[in-house]
Amino acid sequence: MKVLKVKNYDEMSEQACSILVDKINNMKHPVLGLATGSTPEGLYKKLIEQYNHGHVSFKDTTTFNLDEYIGLSKNHPNSYHYYMKNHLFQHIDINMDQVHVPKGDVIDIQNECVEYEKAILDHDKIDVQILGLGTNGHIGFNEPGTSFTSRTHMVDLAESTRQANARFFESLNDVPTKAITMGIEAIMESKEIIVLVSGDRKADALARFMNGDISEDFPASILQNHKQVTIIADEAALSKI
Ligand code: GLP
Repeated sequence: MKVLKVKNYDEMSEQACSILVDKINNMKHPVLGLATGSTPEGLYKKLIEQYNHGHVSFKDTTTFNLDEYIGLSKNHPNSYHYYMKNHLFQHIDINMDQVHVPKGDVIDIQNECVEYEKAILDHDKIDVQILGLGTNGHIGFNEPGTSFTSRTHMVDLAESTRQANARFFESLNDVPTKAITMGIEAIMESKEIIVLVSGDRKADALARFMNGDISEDFPASILQNHKQVTIIADEAALSKI
């Protein structure tokens, strides 16, 4: 795994943006895997700036998001559909038919898992997957204990994940208990993966991700086996390496 050490959150976002813009501009039909959470917000802001300056176009780009809460409608301000629209999609020239976010508000979640997986496989492979890192090592919403051979599936969110994400909700009680997530195997099939990590809140997790044993107890550890991983991490996140 390649590590790009940067000073702070802003530099992390800047580096990720410039790598991504370069890749998008050099591919005919880029397929991007996108993440949510606070980590990629800066990256999305900078991508919008690049788009506004005419340095990149997303009209031939396809996207797949990692995950979505179960039980929140697309218009709920805490849904990842809303997040993506608000932080990126409504500001750029992407064709919304080419945008994929798993649906968490359908009655038949099992069917949604099958359909989402089919859509990913129809596009061959994700060219560049952006990942954040959960403090318990989750990637997407693949919590500790998830099989490394998992495909799109429904998950029970770990209590620590609900607590970590409670800051986006009015109270912990409002945080959904379940989610739908792309599986670890599909993430590992991406041609290239960029992991963004910022802040001392992530320092323990980053140290275990980079140097710990590869184990389903710590999902991100499997990325050590991927041939094209770039970690862009700031000084605070790297403080325990
Ligand atoms: C969330 C998301 C992940 C994200 C991670 C870190 O729960 N499901 O995709 O990468 O946890 O979130 P944050 O960037 O807010 O720290």
